[in-house]
Amino acid sequence: MPNTNRVFLSPPCLSGEEQKLVGEAFASNYIAPLGPMVDRFEKDLEDLTGYKHVVALSSGTAALHLALRCLGIGPGDEVWAATLTFIASLAGANYQGATTVFIDADPATWCLDPQLLEEALREAASRGRLPKAVIPTDLFGQSCDLDAIVGICDRHGIPVVCDSAEAVGARYKDRHAGKGARAAALSFNGNKIVTTSSGGALASDDAALISLARKLSTQAREPVPHYEHVAIGYNYRLSNILAAVGCAQLGDLEERVRHRRWVFGQYMEYLANLPGIQFMPEAPYGTSNRWLSVIVVDAGQFGASREDIRLLLERHNIESRPIWKPMHLQPVFAGSRCIGGGAVSERLFATGLCLPSGHALTDRDIQRICDLIRSLCRTVN
Ligand SMILES: Cc1ncc(COP(=O)(O)O)c(C=O)c1O
Repeated sequence: MPNTNRVFLSPPCLSGEEQKLVGEAFASNYIAPLGPMVDRFEKDLEDLTGYKHVVALSSGTAALHLALRCLGIGPGDEVWAATLTFIASLAGANYQGATTVFIDADPATWCLDPQLLEEALREAASRGRLPKAVIPTDLFGQSCDLDAIVGICDRHGIPVVCDSAEAVGARYKDRHAGKGARAAALSFNGNKIVTTSSGGALASDDAALISLARKLSTQAREPVPHYEHVAIGYNYRLSNILAAVGCAQLGDLEERVRHRRWVFGQYMEYLANLPGIQFMPEAPYGTSNRWLSVIVVDAGQFGASREDIRLLLERHNIESRPIWKPMHLQPVFAGSRCIGGGAVSERLFATGLCLPSGHALTDRDIQRICDLIRSLCRTVN
């Protein structure tokens, strides 16, 4: 139901160029899952990520699935992934029949803890039961410590697929988030910093991997005039119309990141000095795109819980959301293993709240949200 007064968590934001480029797509008559806008979008994404090859796809979930299929992951294999993430990070591993094992978060970054990974891989190597892939997530726009993770995995010959779905425009060291893995997945879902309404991409320096992903994304059609198939593929390609939206959205990405970071800074300023409120830390090695502004609430110190805040905001027609529920706590993964136990991500889930972070938010909106939060604080009332 459209609700114009509602403050959403992360609604789509138009750059103003979308209709023009969509018009060009219509004029070219490429109303199809291929065409000049798809080519341009892929080139723009290569320039952005620094990866040599990019295939544009129908979703980030499709990108993650294809990466694992291209790496030959199958039944009986283990795939290790961050537990603090969205389920799409692991859906592909499950489509492929692999077993998922989770790794707890580093409290300093909230992303996959490289130290836990290192210890667990050493132990797995001694048992002769290494995972076939590792999937860290760039959480809420903050890059994981990719060099550390890739370095550890390289020692065991394990490919890393970085889930950078939330991190378009974020930086890791001197490069785009996700660059340095065997492959990285991006999402252009409607709630992301860059949207094509629904869409995604897989990026890699491995030409053969992207070429296979491209083929599998178009029903694994063989390059002959008739329809010939030696494998079963998928219909995972991005429409040329949606790629036009993506090209327009990438045009002002820097401004999008700047605004999200500004929103985060305003929350920090207005909520400063409130007891029991802390903010998602920013790792020193990178620049988060602050896709979502996230706080953690110590109910004892603050005087109200994360859920009290969420419900108060909801009563004022303001959307907020608990942070991702860790995968090892999900009923669908009941009984699965979580390396490190999972206490860090469980605590973050119990206390973390994502606040409205969209591009249209004004200083007044943020002040209003912060005033409501402040009204629940024990020491203020
Ligand atoms: C961490 C993470 N991984 C994967 C995805 C999947 O992307 P999509 O919705 O484009 O399939 C998302 C977002 O939806 C996400 O937040």
